[in-house]
Amino acid sequence: MNNTRTIDRPVIITGCSSGIGYHCASMLSKRPGYRVFATARKAEDVARLKGQGLESVQLDLAEEQSVDEAFAEIMQRTGNQLYALFNNGAYGQPGAVEDLSRAVLREQFETNLFGTHQLTRLAIRVMRAQGGHGRIVQDSSVLGFVSLAMRGAYSASKYALEGLSDTLRLELADTDIHVSLIEPGPIESKFRHNAFLMYRKNINPDASVHHDKYLAAEARLTKEGPAVPFTLPPDAVYKKLLQALEHPCPRPRYYVTFPTYLLGFLKRVLSTRGLDSVLRKIG
Ligand SMILES: NC(=O)c1ccc[n+]([C@@H]2O[C@H](COP(=O)([O-])OP(=O)(O)OC[C@H]3O[C@@H](n4cnc5c(N)ncnc54)[C@H](OP(=O)(O)O)[C@@H]3O)[C@@H](O)[C@H]2O)c1
Repeated sequence: MNNTRTIDRPVIITGCSSGIGYHCASMLSKRPGYRVFATARKAEDVARLKGQGLESVQLDLAEEQSVDEAFAEIMQRTGNQLYALFNNGAYGQPGAVEDLSRAVLREQFETNLFGTHQLTRLAIRVMRAQGGHGRIVQDSSVLGFVSLAMRGAYSASKYALEGLSDTLRLELADTDIHVSLIEPGPIESKFRHNAFLMYRKNINPDASVHHDKYLAAEARLTKEGPAVPFTLPPDAVYKKLLQALEHPCPRPRYYVTFPTYLLGFLKRVLSTRGLDSVLRKIG
């Protein structure tokens, strides 16, 4: 029995099967002072994470019951204590806006927004009950404040996450519960691989006026190695996560990668039309 565990600060991370979530869970669990709950959607990933020595619980953000059960299980293990929630689990649904059915858009929001929101509310309740302190860190995206063609569903879900998070920050201003958004640009992970699966599942390029643009999107989604310049490893996000978790006064926003800094700057200085002309060249 490891007695230090009782004083370690519990942190829940969603989407730990790969990429940023996996890296952050692995690194943070080795850092003194933390007890990391590395959650994952699929049972086989939970088993794999446990095999690697991580404390893992199954949590599917798209399933309301799964979110409730996973959170209850973790709170039972921590004695209703929670230092931080890192809302990381999400996927990108590619597709032109006019090709997104209501069901496909809803599916995107079920995971990226509604499940995340459900979990955040559960976390806030515990954070308030333990004296009004804690950290909520949202893995948003550069696409949470600028849009690119063919990424409307994903961008909408991240804009919505930003809207809820900005509001939450105002509402929690009289507590010691801090809300931070991390806004990465391109990061090495399984993100494009998983987005390609959702593209195949939900989009029919042959039935679309955007057929040619889908060919370019397919090439980008299936390209080996980094698809674009300035791609960083997940550790770049982990460094910002540590600041959000450990700084006495964490920032509302953490940019990650050069494209995020550049587009953040351009959004502030350009007109909407001016920014559109830049974004059309990138997309
Ligand atoms: N990679 C980038 O360039 C980039 C840039 C900006 C922001 N982000 C954000 O970074 C976060 C992590 O993405 P990543 O780059 O690490 O991609 P990733 O390797 O695809 O990881 C995404 C994780 O989210 C999980 N997930 C998907 N649907 C879920 C659900 N219904 N319930 C619970 N977990 C679910 C995935 O699990 P499964 O394996 O079960 O699908 C996976 O563990 C996301 O929020 C993403 O939007 C990524």
